[in-house]
Amino acid sequence: MSNTSLITHLRFVGFAMPQLEEQRAFYSKEWGLTEVTEKDGVYYFAAEGSPEPYVLRLRKDDKKRADVISFGTASRSNVNLLAELLKLDGVKVIHEPCELSTPGGGYGVRFFDLDGRVVEVSAEVAPREHRELASGESIPARLSHCVVNSPNPQATVDWYEKYLGFRVVETLHIHGRTLMWFMRCSHPQHHVFAVGNGPHVAMHHVSFDMRGIDEFLRGVGRLQRDGNELIWGPGRHQTGDNAYGYFQDAAGNTVEYTAGMSQLDDAWKATEGDLSDPAVLDVWGTSNAWGEHVMRSHFNTPDEGLFVAPPL
Ligand SMILES: [Fe+2]
Repeated sequence: MSNTSLITHLRFVGFAMPQLEEQRAFYSKEWGLTEVTEKDGVYYFAAEGSPEPYVLRLRKDDKKRADVISFGTASRSNVNLLAELLKLDGVKVIHEPCELSTPGGGYGVRFFDLDGRVVEVSAEVAPREHRELASGESIPARLSHCVVNSPNPQATVDWYEKYLGFRVVETLHIHGRTLMWFMRCSHPQHHVFAVGNGPHVAMHHVSFDMRGIDEFLRGVGRLQRDGNELIWGPGRHQTGDNAYGYFQDAAGNTVEYTAGMSQLDDAWKATEGDLSDPAVLDVWGTSNAWGEHVMRSHFNTPDEGLFVAPPL
């Protein structure tokens, strides 16, 4: 089963929170991103191995929220096409397709998804000069995927299928209840986005790809030595075959170091996993158990910015 999504990859995620200085310190000194610039109170962070001008943006706000989730598309005509489709269906567009003034520029449209998250789709963003990470370098190479919580998960999945052309590659169940829907875009990476069955709308986690398994483990170890709590890991999910180590940022958002995610071929078929089998959660068997503590971290606190456009 091939894929015809308009979306090529996840570009960046934006967070706002009261504790901006602690958050800047976490992402640059602990997590290993590079703070590249500040503009109008928004701080931009790049991953050393990624051509994206930034993979994370932070902004101070009284409210804790996800400011924006941004995806790439191949052309400005795709941006225009998507905007027309959204408007025809009455989806709330925050701004029409336009030249972007954020680092790297480009051409993009911004809109609310059905739960009120802010989504941006852009093309022609100028790449950043980047480099191959060295062997053993335990900092993120690139952004991998993000996962959102929704109290209306099936409707959210349907929405992303309809408008962004994502396709469900795997669902995870326990005792007959579906907990997760993993979705791909046009890139063969197993998933770029996923929807979790959560109690409220919130970011579930944002995942950063490390150079390889060795660098992943070194990163997980380095963060723990620095006093960061490893919430869940290190293990390797059967879904996507990716290694995982989950931590929390300074505002309590869950962030993941990952490595080794599988790539789908044209013959891929949607699969199902049963979470009562511990090997589905962790094929290595090295991780701490999945339980209340992990779920609470992944549920996050309710997003306080739904259906409100961030100032930038
Ligand atoms: Fe993940």
